[in-house]
Amino acid sequence: MSYSASTTRYDSMPYSYCGHSGLKLPKISLGLWHNFGRDFNEQISRDVCRKAFDLGITHFDLANNYGPPPGAAESFLGRILKDDFASYRDEMVISTKAGYLMWPGPYGDWGSRKYLISSLDQSLKRMGLEYVDIFYSHRFDPRTPLEETMGALDTIVRQGKALYVGLSSYNSKRTKEAVAILKNLGTPCLIHQPSYSMLNRWIEDDGLLDTLAELGIGSIAFSPLAQGLLTNKYVEQIPAGSRATQGKTIREGHLSEENIRRIKGLNEIAQKRGQSLAQMAISWVLRADRVTTALIGASSVAQLEDSYGALQNLAFSAEELKDIDNYAQEGGINLWAASSNS
Ligand SMILES: NC(=O)c1ccc[n+]([C@@H]2O[C@H](COP(=O)([O-])OP(=O)(O)OC[C@H]3O[C@@H](n4cnc5c(N)ncnc54)[C@H](OP(=O)(O)O)[C@@H]3O)[C@@H](O)[C@H]2O)c1
Repeated sequence: MSYSASTTRYDSMPYSYCGHSGLKLPKISLGLWHNFGRDFNEQISRDVCRKAFDLGITHFDLANNYGPPPGAAESFLGRILKDDFASYRDEMVISTKAGYLMWPGPYGDWGSRKYLISSLDQSLKRMGLEYVDIFYSHRFDPRTPLEETMGALDTIVRQGKALYVGLSSYNSKRTKEAVAILKNLGTPCLIHQPSYSMLNRWIEDDGLLDTLAELGIGSIAFSPLAQGLLTNKYVEQIPAGSRATQGKTIREGHLSEENIRRIKGLNEIAQKRGQSLAQMAISWVLRADRVTTALIGASSVAQLEDSYGALQNLAFSAEELKDIDNYAQEGGINLWAASSNS
């Protein structure tokens, strides 16, 4: 069935400027890390993207290695851009990244100029795009001079292959250094993509949130649901087909008795607020406007719609925040913090 976007798609989604830039991002963005590879039902993936756009979610986040296999999510996006979204490209913000292992040998990983520039060329081919809106250095590389990695981002913008650049999972110190280099080169850093959730607060402890506010850089918080732990799906059991059954990025220890106790406590607070736990987790990340957009994943249209409902209630009382802290201080579920930022 051919797709025609909903005419009401801009009626309720709020959009915020991304730091001190002219680019507005929706409060909720969709990531294609899991559930958009060859291991997943393509019709569901397609339906999720269509529904997202219909709800005003204009921002779709990818990386070279999303799949499986690596590259498959970008190839999928290329297909739906052609079939469904060809006439909506200018209404969309599409991002991709390079920084993790993508191809064998010395040139397919980390932060060299060689890797970043050739990887983006491959990404553009897979997606059938002339440019991406945002290109990220996916992680800090302790062995490549930061000047080289940032120089590659600057070149990419000057080549017209990306409109903006960003950093992912760089800590506060490395972010300051990278941002200064980019500024000198004349290519400002638009955005930072860190992990952040009620259960994973490294960006508060590290000072990264304060740094981004000071530098006028926007933020897109990934895994606000702690990959599904901060939803009601694991409260009673581990459902078949869920990420926790795939033995990849949610591990057994994350679903310890202690953590399930925390999740149940948080679920009760969410219920009192008239929200699902997923909704409260997203609202929490977006509270007080410190984060520009929450970057969620979804394995069904129903999940996406539920998560979108978070926007109905973004305010928290001091008491609610205190109750949440009582259950959700780190909890050993630090699924993804800044890596290799020595
Ligand atoms: N920069 C980086 O290094 C990095 C790293 C990781 C992720 N990311 C980005 O962040 C995006 C989001 O990451 P994520 O998928 O881990 O985010 P998440 O939103 O924390 O987790 C998404 C998962 O939670 C479950 N879920 C979602 N909505 C739900 C709902 N309403 N009710 C019940 N369960 C629900 C689903 O699990 P099931 O699939 O089990 O149903 C879904 O796949 C990625 O796609 C990627 O773009 C970036």
